[in-house]
Amino acid sequence: MTSHAVTVRVPAKVNLQLSVGARRPDGYHDLVSVFHAVGLADDVVASPSSDGVTVTVSGEGAGSLPVDGDNLAVRAALALARHVGRPPDVALHLVKSIPVAGGMAGGSADAAGALVACDALWGSDVDRATLLRLAADLGSDVPFALVGGTAVGVGRGIDLTAALARGELHWVFAFDEGGLSTAAVYAEADRLRGGAVRPEPRVSERLMAALRSHDVPAIGAALENDLQRAALSLRPRLARVLDAGREQGALGAIVSGSGPTCAFLAQDAPHAVDLAVALSGSGLCRTVRTAVGPAPGARLVGPTRSEDSGG
Ligand code: C5P
Repeated sequence: MTSHAVTVRVPAKVNLQLSVGARRPDGYHDLVSVFHAVGLADDVVASPSSDGVTVTVSGEGAGSLPVDGDNLAVRAALALARHVGRPPDVALHLVKSIPVAGGMAGGSADAAGALVACDALWGSDVDRATLLRLAADLGSDVPFALVGGTAVGVGRGIDLTAALARGELHWVFAFDEGGLSTAAVYAEADRLRGGAVRPEPRVSERLMAALRSHDVPAIGAALENDLQRAALSLRPRLARVLDAGREQGALGAIVSGSGPTCAFLAQDAPHAVDLAVALSGSGLCRTVRTAVGPAPGARLVGPTRSEDSGG
C-alpha cells in the first residue's frame, strides 16, 4: 500500500443517443446508449487510513451528498475491499465539478474513481474485467466512467463497445437548481408511454455516420434522448433553456441523460464560449460550463504507486 494519497480524475458523460426500450422484469429498461465522456470531471482523492472508510466532499453539491454508506464512492471502496479480502481502510475526498443528480453520471464517476483510486492505494492490482464487473454492480453508468471516450452501451447500458468517432466536440452545459431522480424520470417516461409497446432500441446509423465523419452539424441534428420528454414533464422550465440555446445557434440542444442538465453542441471553442456567455446572461440556469469531449475514463493524475508495494 502507498503511504501517499492518490488522485483519480473521472469524466462526466452526456448521452448522444439514449433510446429506451421496454421495462424488464428486473425493473431496468433495455437501452441503446451512446455515451460520450467530457472534460468536466470529478477528482477522487484516496488517502491512507487505519479506520475503515470515510468520505468528505467539496465543490458542486457538497452538503447535499450522503457521507455514509449510501455514498456511491463508499460503496465502491467497500465492494473492492470485499473482493480482494482486505479491510476497507481509506479516507476518500471528492472534489466535485459534475452536478449532483444532474443526468451527467456524477455519482457513477465518483464510484468509478473510488474503484481505481483504492486499487492503486491498496496495490491490489485488480484486472480490468473484474473492475468493470464491480462497476456494473454499483450502477448502470459506472462501467462507462471507467472506459471514457465515446461508446455504445446496450442491455442495461453496461455492455460497452467503443464507437468509431473522430475529432473533438465542444459542449456547453447548463446546470439547473436541484437534481432529478433517475428512477423518477424513467418512471415518468413509462407513465407518458402508457401501455404502448416499445420497439427494440437500435443504434442510430445517422449518428454513427456523423461521428465517423466528424460532421458536427450532423451530430447536433442526430442527438436524441428518449428521457427528454419525461424530464421536461417533471421540469417544464427546461424547455425555455433548450430554446435559449437553439436561439443562440447551438447545433444540438438536448437534456443530458435523465436531466435536469441541458447540453448544447457548439461548432467550435469560440462558439462554445459565446453560447455559454449568452446562456449565463439569460438567467435561466444556475451555472453554465463549457467542456470538450471525448475525455478519457477514470485515470490516475496524482502520485502513483512509488512507495512500498503489496498490502
Ligand atoms: O443503475 P442505476 O442505479 O444508475 O440506475 C438508476 C435507476 O435508473 C434505476 O433504479 C432504474 O430506475 C433506472 N434505470 C433503468 N434502466 C436502465 C438504467 C437505469 O430503468 N437501463
